[in-house]
Amino acid sequence: MLKEKMHAALNHQIKIEAESSQIYLGMASWAETKGLNGIADFLYGHADEERMHMLKLVRYINERGGHAFIPLLEGPKNEYSSVNEVFESFLNHEIEVSSQIDELVGLALSERDYSTHNFLQWYVAEQIEEESLARTILDKLALIGEDKGGFYMFDRDLVNIKSSLSNENTGI
Ligand code: FEO
Repeated sequence: MLKEKMHAALNHQIKIEAESSQIYLGMASWAETKGLNGIADFLYGHADEERMHMLKLVRYINERGGHAFIPLLEGPKNEYSSVNEVFESFLNHEIEVSSQIDELVGLALSERDYSTHNFLQWYVAEQIEEESLARTILDKLALIGEDKGGFYMFDRDLVNIKSSLSNENTGI
């Protein structure tokens, strides 16, 4: 059974993950309207991943005898000035999410809730991967600079970046 503090904190994380999904959906839609189809596909996929992060929390809270509340969400940003701004926002957002996950891990330890601590390790690993993904993308954009051909290739290849990074991380 989840203790009250942990229950409230995990419910709050549902909102953060759901809002992340909305934020990436807003970015994806912006990119699609600019004809950046590779970037849009990547971001649509990422919005789905965030929904899955949210759903894992919903299922976990209910499995532990709690009640996962489905929150009202803030509307996301819908306009961006550049692809750089999109991915800088992406990185900053993931850094914030990582610190939220760290708070949850700290709470799980102080509450001696080792099941939740164990459950959260998946999120800890995921955050390392997501921050690293965002930094890799920003590095690539910095290298491309004003090179239109390079940017065209970047847009085309972005969908493959995550899977190749995941393979690197898992050593497959
Ligand atoms: Fe679910 Fe990107 O943090």
